[in-house]
Amino acid sequence: MICRTICVCIIYIRISSALGNEDSKLNFTGLGLKYGHIVEEHNVDTEDGYILKLFHIPGDPRRPVLLVHGIIDSSDTFIIRGNGSLAISLANKGYDIWALNTRGNRYSKAHKYLNPDDGTFWNFSFHEMGYYDLPATIDYILNRTNQKQLSAIGHSQGNTHFYVLGSTRPEYNDKVKVIIALAPICFLHNVKPPTSTLLALLPSVGNLLQTLGMEEVFSDDSVLNDGIKAICNEKELGYELCASGVFFAIGGSDPSELEPDFLPVVVSHYPTSTSRKNGVHVAQVALRKSFSQYDYGPIRNNVVYNTIVPPSYDLGKVKMRVALFVGRNDGISSIRDTELLRDRLPNVEYRLLENKKHNHLDHVWGRNMYQYLFPHIFSVLKKYD
Ligand SMILES: *[C@@H]1O[C@H](CO)[C@@H](O)[C@H](O)[C@H]1NC(C)=O
Ligand SMILES: *[C@@H]1O[C@H](CO)[C@@H](O)[C@H](O)[C@H]1NC(C)=O
Ligand SMILES: *[C@@H]1O[C@H](CO)[C@@H](O)[C@H](O)[C@H]1NC(C)=O
Ligand SMILES: *[C@@H]1O[C@H](CO)[C@@H](O)[C@H](O)[C@H]1NC(C)=O
Repeated sequence: MICRTICVCIIYIRISSALGNEDSKLNFTGLGLKYGHIVEEHNVDTEDGYILKLFHIPGDPRRPVLLVHGIIDSSDTFIIRGNGSLAISLANKGYDIWALNTRGNRYSKAHKYLNPDDGTFWNFSFHEMGYYDLPATIDYILNRTNQKQLSAIGHSQGNTHFYVLGSTRPEYNDKVKVIIALAPICFLHNVKPPTSTLLALLPSVGNLLQTLGMEEVFSDDSVLNDGIKAICNEKELGYELCASGVFFAIGGSDPSELEPDFLPVVVSHYPTSTSRKNGVHVAQVALRKSFSQYDYGPIRNNVVYNTIVPPSYDLGKVKMRVALFVGRNDGISSIRDTELLRDRLPNVEYRLLENKKHNHLDHVWGRNMYQYLFPHIFSVLKKYD
C-alpha cells in the first residue's frame, strides 16, 4: 500500500512537472497526494443497491469528519483549492476526513443491478440521498473508526440531506455530533431573480427532458458539459460568460474570490451528473413553498404516500446539532430563508458571516476562505471534539 502510494507520487511529480495546470486533470485522490496526503478509495453500498465512492484521508480515527457536496457537484469541490481547501486544511489539523459522492455523480454512477444508461437508475432526488446514502455512509464510517458519532460539513444541497435524514430516520440524529451547514438549503421561499426565474422554469424543462427520455442531466461527457467547458475556457470571454454570467448571477457576485486563473480548475470538476428528478424536486420546494417529499401529482401521490399532497419533512424531528453558516451575498440561500430554517430546527446555532460579499460558492471555492471562513468551522468542530 505504502509502496504503491510512493510510486503513484513519483509518477505524479513527473507528470506535474511536464504539465501546466494539472489540478484540472486530477481527481480527489490525485489532488490529495499532490497536497501531501494519502487518499484511500472506499465503496459504500446503500440499502437500495447504489454503490457510492467515499474518499478517505486518514487522520485521528477519534475525530471523523464527513464532507457532503451539493447538487451537480462532487467530493472534488472540497479539495480543488489545494492547500487552501477545506479537505486539506482539516487533514493538516489531523481530522479523519471522509468525502462522500452522492448517487449519480461521476464517482457514484454504479448500482448492484441497475444500469446508469437506463432511466430507472435515475429515479431519485435529494430525498434518497438523505434517506439511503447518508445512513449507509455514516454507518460505514462509524464502523471503520469504531466511533459512535461523527461530525459533518455539508455545502448547499449537501446539508439538505441531513434534514431529510433527521426527520425520516430520527435514530440517526444521535450519530451526528454536529452538521456544519455551509450555504444551507431548505426553504426556498425568498429566492431573488434570476435564480427564482430559473427555479420557476425548471418543471417545464423537466417535463421536456422526460419526454425526450433524458433522466440524467450534466453527464460528464455530454454535449452540454463539453459545451460548458469550451465556453468557460474561452480566453477572451470565458470569465464574463461563465463566472459573471452564470456563477455570480445565480450564486451572488464575488469576483475577487474566484479569479480567472482558477476558473478552468473549477469547470474541469464541475458540474457533474445528477438526476432530472433531483432538479425538479428542488424547484417543487421553491414553487410549492414547502419543504416536502417529491410531488408526483395527486393520483400518484395517493399511491406512493397515501395522501394527495406529498408529506412535508418534520424539521422538529431533526434533533441533531445544526450550525448554519450563512453568507450575506448568497443568491440562492437567502438570509430570510435561513432564518425560517433556524426558527424550525430544535438544536441550532446561526452564524451570519461577516464578509459582505460572501456568496454561495465562497464556502468551497473562495480564494481566501481559509482566512474568513475556516476559523469559524474549526471553532465549531473543536467545541464538540
Ligand atoms: C483517480 O485517479 C487515479 C490516477 O489517475 C486513478 O488511478 C484512480 O483510479 C482514480 N480514482 C477514481 C475513483 O476515479
Ligand atoms: C499554499 O501554498 C503556497 C505555496 O507553497 C503558499 O504560498 C500559500 O500561502 C499556501 N496557502 C495556504 C492557505 O496555506
Ligand atoms: C420511482 O420511485 C417511486 C418511489 O420510490 C415509485 O413510486 C415510482 O413508480 C418510480 N418511478 C419510476 C418511473 O420508476
Ligand atoms: C464493523 O462491521 C463488521 C462487519 O459487519 C463487524 O464484524 C464489526 O464488528 C464492526 N465493527 C464495529 C466497530 O462496529
